[in-house]
Amino acid sequence: MSKLNIALVGAGRRGAGAHLPVIAKLKDVYNLVAVCDIDEAAATRYAKEYGVTPYTNVRDLVAHEELDVVDITVPGVAHHAIGCFMADAGVHILCETPITVTLPTADLMIEHAKANNVKLEIAENYYRAPRERFLSKVIEADVIGEVARIYRIFYEGGHHGMSMLRLRAGGAPKSVLGITQTSPVIPIIDRMKRDHTSERWSLGFIEFDNNATALMVYSNVIHARSLGRGQTGISQIDGSKGTIVGEAIYVTPADELESGAKGVAYRPKRTTIDVDGTNVIDNISLELPEQIVTWENPLKNYPLSEGQIAVADELLSIATAVLNDTEPEYGAALGRQDQEMNIAMNESGNRSKETITFPLTELTETERGTHESYQQQYGHPIEDLEAGIDTFFPRR
Ligand SMILES: NC(=O)c1ccc[n+]([C@@H]2O[C@H](COP(=O)([O-])OP(=O)(O)OC[C@H]3O[C@@H](n4cnc5c(N)ncnc54)[C@H](O)[C@@H]3O)[C@@H](O)[C@H]2O)c1
Repeated sequence: MSKLNIALVGAGRRGAGAHLPVIAKLKDVYNLVAVCDIDEAAATRYAKEYGVTPYTNVRDLVAHEELDVVDITVPGVAHHAIGCFMADAGVHILCETPITVTLPTADLMIEHAKANNVKLEIAENYYRAPRERFLSKVIEADVIGEVARIYRIFYEGGHHGMSMLRLRAGGAPKSVLGITQTSPVIPIIDRMKRDHTSERWSLGFIEFDNNATALMVYSNVIHARSLGRGQTGISQIDGSKGTIVGEAIYVTPADELESGAKGVAYRPKRTTIDVDGTNVIDNISLELPEQIVTWENPLKNYPLSEGQIAVADELLSIATAVLNDTEPEYGAALGRQDQEMNIAMNESGNRSKETITFPLTELTETERGTHESYQQQYGHPIEDLEAGIDTFFPRR
């Protein structure tokens, strides 16, 4: 099998911190050829570290390299500009989350990918984490019965949260009710070096077409785990036969169904193996009185820590799609739907808790605001792709 030439665009916290170390471990599939960042110091530093060529703009990158795949890890507001440019150059794309900041810009990137016949995968990582893959197996095995309600409170939010809620509900979203509040916080810099001076808090209640519902509470300060926010989190999935609380799976023994029906907690066991000095997860298994549910790590041959598995999974998914000419596992339609749900929740909050139904058919005020503040900050319209790729989008 020939290896795929890959370049990373955006060597910031996510790109340099999480993606490059994983690309370097997937040597049988990828040949890392370049690191591109508009910040010359970042491009040079990481290109040197990985022994590849640095570039400070994507025009030079595609002019000088034969690329199969690009890993886009620039800030979200720049995804569509860089994504459309790479699609026009015929390069397959793995794009960090969110797909883009608004639906018109997502549609622009999707159109460019389609017109150029390139694959577009969204690097949605939450559901790809071993724990979540395992819980998906538990639900598929009917251990808790039909899923009725999902609570993700003080966990991930925004597009990530919507992705998780939709997956766990197993249905398509019908409507969302959002409550939003912004309040000041003292200036802080969180563990990921993000600045915060306000807390943008949201509560979302979502109804799905299969009768499942979901409740999510989230804020940037909760996400940052700062100021004591998110000190406790609730991740609970209520089914017709049982409940998943965190990683504990509650089911009621058959002979107790009519005498209190108290749930008994079963906890999964992780088995690890040593791969080239790295403690690698081999499987997560749950032993119940009448069945065993096991998730086997399909990437156990690679020296990946548990936290790196989701990123490796994304990178291998786009590789498989390119090599076999199949659809990526988390394609643009799913990434767009996550952002649609997230935008709708915020729109509902902005419209004083008006319930919003799906699909969104016109530009929301929320997106109009995003487009306006983009133009104000960067001096060109958000649809101006040429100007976008040459703009430095700073850390936020
Ligand atoms: N999936 C996740 O869990 C997760 C977590 C964190 C961040 N992210 C996503 O990853 C992306 C990057 O976030 P981050 O926190 O690493 O941001 P960052 O600001 O730390 O890094 C972005 C990099 O892009 C570079 N850049 C800016 N404009 C550019 C341009 N026009 N051309 C080339 N390079 C440019 C910057 O110099 C910077 O080095 C965002 O889309 C973010 O939403 C995802």
